[in-house]
Amino acid sequence: MEIAVVGSGYVGLVAGACFAELGHDVTLVDNDQQKLAALRRGECPIHEKFLPELLERHRGKKLSFTDDLHSAVRRSQAIFIAVGTPPKHDGDADLSYVESVARGIASAIDSYKVVVEKSTVPVYTNSWIRKIMLLNGVPPELFDVASNPEFLREGTAVADFLYPDRIVVGADTDRCAQVLERAYQPLVDGSYSMGDNAIPGPVEAPFSAHLIRTSAKSAELIKHASNAFLAMKISFINAVATVCEAVGADVEQVREGIGSDSRIGRRFLFPGIGYGGSCFPKDLLAFCAVARDNGCRFGLLDETVKVNDEQRIRFLRKVSHALWTLKGKKLAVLGLAFKNGTDDIRESPAIAIIKSLLKEGCSVTAYDPAAMGRAAEEFAPGSVQFAEDAYDAMAGADACLILTEWEDFAALDLARVKTLLRYPIVVDGRNLFHPAQMQAAGLNYYSVGRPDVTGHLHTKPTIAVRKEALPQEEAA
Ligand code: UGA
Repeated sequence: MEIAVVGSGYVGLVAGACFAELGHDVTLVDNDQQKLAALRRGECPIHEKFLPELLERHRGKKLSFTDDLHSAVRRSQAIFIAVGTPPKHDGDADLSYVESVARGIASAIDSYKVVVEKSTVPVYTNSWIRKIMLLNGVPPELFDVASNPEFLREGTAVADFLYPDRIVVGADTDRCAQVLERAYQPLVDGSYSMGDNAIPGPVEAPFSAHLIRTSAKSAELIKHASNAFLAMKISFINAVATVCEAVGADVEQVREGIGSDSRIGRRFLFPGIGYGGSCFPKDLLAFCAVARDNGCRFGLLDETVKVNDEQRIRFLRKVSHALWTLKGKKLAVLGLAFKNGTDDIRESPAIAIIKSLLKEGCSVTAYDPAAMGRAAEEFAPGSVQFAEDAYDAMAGADACLILTEWEDFAALDLARVKTLLRYPIVVDGRNLFHPAQMQAAGLNYYSVGRPDVTGHLHTKPTIAVRKEALPQEEAA
């Protein structure tokens, strides 16, 4: 098939490269000349496993880059819109880029095309795209609008695309659904996974994807509701972690206990400093706006956002609890990306926490295996130092804070950590270590929803529950 993908951000670039991998001829359209030039030179603008290989494999063959939307539309049977939908001041999604692309597509259509929303958009966007096309003079028989939401996660985006839990095709006509079914055929019939050069997936070949056909509106809602549910799981476990701290329970044990119920599941139940990234925060606000604008009360969404915001504040309180005063303290910060496996710092809780610490008068030396380049642009020049590696960040620091769940950090040599730090204090916002391990290493350790390990500044080491978290009579 000939496919056009408009927008070469995370979703567009991964989708374009993966459709080429599935054997289609893909034109990736963007109006950012610098980005296009970099892509043509063979550069990969994002840190994403397997993406450089796919770009290398298909660039100049099954994958081309252009700013010419008109020609790309003429050539293609399906045009995927994957441009940004940033939040407006009221949380609602700004759809002006989608609208402008829809107008561009309308001016080029000369035969039947399927226009596919790939960006995360509020319900009704497909109806608006349809209206824009009709207002711009496109005869109704020359197009259909479908919703085909993307569920990829940054860091595992290529594997998520090629080995999806499901493919949702929101199409209101059979003709339109058939075009999308063809686009995904090698994933649905399992043939992709059987190929010699297939990107390895999380499961054994043959892998056949489950394709779900819905109405366009349902597909739009599925995307928002999926992200909201995942964010709700995270806020739920974070709220449980807070209760664990208050009563002296261990959230990891509680997580194991509740996650073992197959109806609940263990995934997305990791407590921490709250979710970040370019999707959950934005999509939650947009879904709240959809509910509000359609007269639905959906307080669960508001509470999910509130718990998430509070989680950062609670972490800052932990840091000051561990260090007493913050002004003038030298802190080693491990992790800047919003999660592991990516260099993306958009809405990263790590960045927000560092900004608050700088305001309190701390000095920060940070290390992240992938995100330091991007993070440097977030801070005033010279306000944050960047280290060569995790140990370099820790030399002489008053405490070490862990803010991103990189696996490398979990493998740190704890004896070396203890020697490097001025005070043996680790505040872990991602629960990368076990408290007993830190106790054995002689470190004071504060994590999320688990008893603190204190005593290494005193004579007798103990695993202690914070006093203010104890019930009144016990604290007394
Ligand atoms: C998320 C969804 O997981 C994807 O399915 C979706 O396609 C994507 O948004 C999107 O809408 O485009 P992503 O933002 O890449 O993907 O990242 P996640 O892996 O979902 O993590 C989001 C945040 O939640 C991170 O800050 C992560 O550290 C945090 N998190 C995740 C937790 O705090 N606890 C968990 O148990 C899981």
